Amino acid sequence: MGTGRGVEEAGPGLAAVAWRWPVKAFQRPPRVLVVDDDPLQRRLLLKALEPLGVEAVEARNGQEALDLLRDGLPHVVLTDLHMPFMDGLELTRHLKAQDPLLPVLLLTADGERELRLKGIAAGADDFLNRPVDLAELRLRVKGHLERRKLQERLEDLEHTLLALMRAVEAKDAYTAGHGERVAQYALWAAEELGAAERELEELRLGALLHDVGKIAIPDHILRGDYPLTEHEWRLIRQHPVKGDEILKPLRIHPQLRPYVRWHHERLDGSGYPDGLTEVPPLVQVLAAADLYDALTSGRTYRRPVPPEEALRTLEAEVQAGRLEREVARAFRSVLLRNRVLRAP
Ligand SMILES: [Fe+2]
Ligand SMILES: [Fe+2]
Repeated sequence: MGTGRGVEEAGPGLAAVAWRWPVKAFQRPPRVLVVDDDPLQRRLLLKALEPLGVEAVEARNGQEALDLLRDGLPHVVLTDLHMPFMDGLELTRHLKAQDPLLPVLLLTADGERELRLKGIAAGADDFLNRPVDLAELRLRVKGHLERRKLQERLEDLEHTLLALMRAVEAKDAYTAGHGERVAQYALWAAEELGAAERELEELRLGALLHDVGKIAIPDHILRGDYPLTEHEWRLIRQHPVKGDEILKPLRIHPQLRPYVRWHHERLDGSGYPDGLTEVPPLVQVLAAADLYDALTSGRTYRRPVPPEEALRTLEAEVQAGRLEREVARAFRSVLLRNRVLRAP
């Protein structure tokens, strides 16, 4: 039958192409950097890593290892402590300054307690006793490689989301840089309110992504350069839910969803999409930063307002029971401190 043959033709054709696709050319095996001044030890370590299928790179001391980093950071570093030119501790400090999450394993001799403590202070992630148990070495390196891969996937996902966000901002020249500015204001205020390091990092990402749902809203409605109909307003108001729908299946960072879904909620229940009357404080910080930036940046239909006036609008929100007083207070003090506002 005609249709059947068509399918048959397409099937093997695609299959034949698929194996030729040069995926391998785009995939490099994970790289492990082995640093040791003793050539015999290096050879032993490299041999032990062979079954892991990694690309092992070797260096004779810390300085040589750093020179090799010009080709990009490895996935795991395995380093001796005592080496000429640059020892393992200094190398660890340099590596951690470049990427605090890069796993660094130090090879130490038994009884080197003082050195181990210095290693921890330098940021080393793990220690292996000499003489090295090669099976243990493989297991440890494998564990660190797996964690590194997970972390890279997470970073890839974050980059994809941020690229999506830039695509949203590109839809309307007036919103260019909105996410970055909102993140900056929100971080200032959250620090002032005493937020923890981890909360600040989540808030930063949440702020950068808060309007990601606008990707689903037609450009001409987003630009809003003509009076919008009731129906178009309803569409715009769907963006927090659309954004939440984008993040929901990802399962990573579930703590980012409140920022995306609730950044237009107000304490008096007048916000959207859920009409909440209790809004987490850091989500209120984001909501206030969002409002502040919308007011102080221009739009096609209105001119930017000066910082003092935007701040008075935040304070009016407090009076109307829509925003926590502490949040508006934090904004006033950080805007003064960062010289966005001038002292009266
Ligand atoms: Fe929004
Ligand atoms: Fe926004």
